[in-house]
Order: sequence, then C-alpha cells, then structure tokens
Amino acid sequence: MYLDDKIYLGLADQERVNVPLSVMNRHGLIAGATGTGKTITMKVLAESLSDAGVPVFLCDIKGDVSGLCVPGEKNEGMEKRIDRFGIRDSFEYKSYPVCFWDVYGEKGHPVRATVSDIGPTLMSRILGLTEAQEGVLNIVFRVADDMGMELVDFKDLRSMVNYVAEHKSEYTTVYGNIATASIGAVVRSLLPLEDQGAELFFGEPMLDIRDWIRCAPDGRGYINLLDCVKLSQNPVLYSMFLLWMLSELYETLPEVGDVQKPKLVFFFDEAHMLFKDTPKALVSKIEQVIKLIRSKGVGVFFVTQNPSDIPEAVLAQLSNRIQHALRAYTPMEQKAVRAAAQAFRKNPAFNTEEMITQLGVGEALVSVLDEEGVPSIVQYTKIICPQSLMAQADAVSIQRAREADGMERYDNEVDNYTAFERIAQQLEYEAQQAEMARQQAELDKQRQAMEREEARRIAAREREEQRRRERIERELMNAGKKLIKRGIMNTIKKYL
Ligand SMILES: Nc1ncnc2c1ncn2[C@@H]1O[C@H](COP(=O)(O)OP(=O)(O)OP(=O)(O)O)[C@@H](O)[C@H]1O
Ligand SMILES: [Mg+2]
Repeated sequence: MYLDDKIYLGLADQERVNVPLSVMNRHGLIAGATGTGKTITMKVLAESLSDAGVPVFLCDIKGDVSGLCVPGEKNEGMEKRIDRFGIRDSFEYKSYPVCFWDVYGEKGHPVRATVSDIGPTLMSRILGLTEAQEGVLNIVFRVADDMGMELVDFKDLRSMVNYVAEHKSEYTTVYGNIATASIGAVVRSLLPLEDQGAELFFGEPMLDIRDWIRCAPDGRGYINLLDCVKLSQNPVLYSMFLLWMLSELYETLPEVGDVQKPKLVFFFDEAHMLFKDTPKALVSKIEQVIKLIRSKGVGVFFVTQNPSDIPEAVLAQLSNRIQHALRAYTPMEQKAVRAAAQAFRKNPAFNTEEMITQLGVGEALVSVLDEEGVPSIVQYTKIICPQSLMAQADAVSIQRAREADGMERYDNEVDNYTAFERIAQQLEYEAQQAEMARQQAELDKQRQAMEREEARRIAAREREEQRRRERIERELMNAGKKLIKRGIMNTIKKYL
C-alpha cells in the first residue's frame, strides 16, 4: 500500500520493505511457481501506484485481477494481516478506478491499432518473415502508399498483399523483384494471425495510448486492465500487441529522464509467452524498447513463473526483483533456482538458494533499488495484503466500472473507405474492363466470320456465274457448229 510517499510492500522480520516511487521506472520482475502469490503482489503494487497518482497497465491472464474494482472483503484473515502489518490506521477496504480493455471487445473496451501504424518492420518480426519476405512486405506497404491506399484493418492488408501478388510483374521495374515464393510466404504467414483474431485488433478507432495515462477525478491513477484470457492463447497476436504498445509509448511520450514519480507502470503477466519461440530480432527489439522507455518515465514489470523464462539481455535490465517460491525437484529446476538466487545481493541471515524453495504463499525474496539506485540486500518478505478484493470481480461491478470510465468512444468500430474497399472497386473495374475486352473480341470474331462467309458467298456466286457463262458459250458453240455442219451438208447434197 502507498504510505508516507513510498510503496509499502511487506515486512522483513519487523522491518518495513519499501519501494521508492522514483525507482519504479527501473523495471522489475515478479517470479514464482504457480499459486505462490505473484498476482496478489502485482495487485499490491498496482494499488499503491494508483494511490500515488500513477496510472498502471496490467494484463489479466486468468481473469483474477478484476477484483481491483471492488472493495476487499472484511474477514478474520484480513483483519489479522492488517494488525500484523501495522496498518490499522491507514488500511481501508476500497475499490480502485479500473478501466477494462479487451482486444476482442468482450470483457472491456476494444483495443485497436491500424495496420499502417504497426508498419512492415514490426509486422515482419512478429510474423517471423525472412529478409526477402520482409522486403516484399515493404513493397506492399510502399505500393499501398503510392496508390493512396490506406491500410487500416486486416482485410485492407490481406487484399493489398493479394493485389500485389496478382500484379507483381507490373511492379518489378519500379519496386524491385517480387519473388513468387516470397509473396506466397507472406500470404501464408497472415493466416495464423487471422485465426487468432487479428480482424478485431486491426482497425479504427485506434487506441490513443495517452488514454492509458489518466487519473480519476479523485487523483488516483487509472488501472488499465487488459483482459488477456483469450489473447494469451494467441501468442502471435499477444506479442504483436504488447510490442506495438511499448513502441507506441516510446514514440508518444517525451523524454523526461529519471523522475520522482513514473508516468505509467506496466505489468506483463505470463511474460514467458512474449519470449517463447520468439525470433531473435524481436527479442532484441523488446530489449531495446525496454531500455529506452525508462527515460520516458515508464516502468515495466514482468510476471512469470521462472526468471529463466526471460532472455538474459532483458533480465539484466530488471532492477527490482520479487521472487516467490520455486520448486527444485528436477536438476533443471535446481539449476533455475541457483540462477534465481545468484541474481540477488546476499543476506548473511539466510541462504538465498535454500530460502527460495521454502517460501510460503504470499512470501517472497525481495531486492529493490533504494533512492540512490543501489539494490538492497535480499530480504525475506511477507507481502502485504491488497485493499481491493483478492478474488475475481462480479460481472455487475465490471459493467459498472466500464460504464463510468469515459472510454465508450472505442466501443464501436468504424469501417472507412480504405484499401479493401478501394481494391474491391479497382478489381471490379478491372473485371469490367476484361469483360468489355472479351465482348469486343467476341464481336470481332463474329464480324470476321461474317466477312469470311460473305466472301465465300461472293466467290461461290462468281463461280456459278462463270460456270453459266461457260455453259452458254459451249451451247452457242455447239449450235454454231451444228449450223455450219448442216450448211456444209446441204451444199454438198446440192452438188451430188
Ligand atoms: N500477499 C498475500 N496476502 C494474502 N493472501 C495471499 C497473498 N498472496 C497470495 N495469497 C493467496 O494465495 C492465492 C494465490 O495467489 P496468486 O493468485 O497471487 O498466485 P500466482 O502466483 O499468481 O499463481 P498463478 O501462477 O497460478 O497465477 C491468492 O488467491 C490468495 O488467497
Ligand atoms: Mg497469477
């Protein structure tokens, strides 16, 4: 909870473990086996930040974070905790200003981005395209640009790719070679994305990322909760979305350096999904964005089962570490525990490696930066309890929060006249042209046939005429011959 200008995270023996607000942009990690308390720790941090007036963004993978919009439940366990943590005077069962989002638009306001905003580079990385295929996708975007075709939703992208594929020979001289195999691969790479619901993610109105950097009228930071129950099952879309969001923030926010109070803090639950089977280029992009975004006053916390789920280069940038219990049955697990322990500054009071395996639920080994930016020695910490409901919120409370957050302008998709519609029209025009050409060719053929027929008729008539003339001549000749013969005979008879 937020107390005395600090985040009171828990108790190490009787000592309070505090996190200064000023180090929340130095990124962090919350790790631990399933059921050890990661999500509750994330909630505690989110509540504290909200109370401090810092907006938060978090992913809800299991649907169990929504309780933030409902006050906590007074019960014996909670009352005991309140006394144990010495917060009787300051603790209040309360709800938080939560804004629900959902890429699929079911459990919150839809989150959309346009295809052109994602751009060919990020798209290629997410789709795992080779250099040659990326080159082709670049051409598709350039052709669209030159033709004045807006690429907004997924059908715009799909029809543009198909259009370029069908007309590739026309573009080769201007844009370079478009290999059949490469464009075919690009077409195929869009299929999994489509199956995962890209049609819903790409479109307008596009999310203005500044809408996530808001405070409620009472001054508390909004907790933007992205329902990822469905999204997390669609890894390509999930990583595209998260990476786009980070890049968008990086591009939108001004440089502020290290600030007393962060502008926004992210929590990525099930972060291993971001890195599983992720192409190298994408990992280095994530690494780069994480590094750069810090000076924009944005903090990023990864929540995952095992620190080894996160690439070394990214892990090295996570300064605030909260390690819940890990199991160590198999040699692999033992190795992971050793690695997790080595990330901490030793505490002479206990053996870090052994302690990681012995932690109870709601307990963690914690090392955070102090105000000078120095990591504290690791502390065995009992994490404080949240003030909002630990369990899931009911549908009515979620609906009420959704109606009160002022973000309803995102609820209805706008389908403008963009590439898909224009290409459909263009194709229709091309089809009409082709049909007209076909009809013309048909007419030409018929005319030629008629001309041939006419010529044949004329020739036949001439031949007939010729034959008649020859017959008459022949008959005349024969008649003449007969007359002459008869005359000669008569003359001969006269003289006989
Ligand atoms: N700080 C805490 N105070 C009180 N109870 C806690 C605390 N942390 C965890 N618990 C209890 O443990 C349960 C499991 O915690 P949580 O859901 O945070 O685990 P998790 O590590 O996120 O598990 P998973 O990996 O399965 O998501 C909670 O529902 C709650 O009852
Ligand atoms: Mg959890």
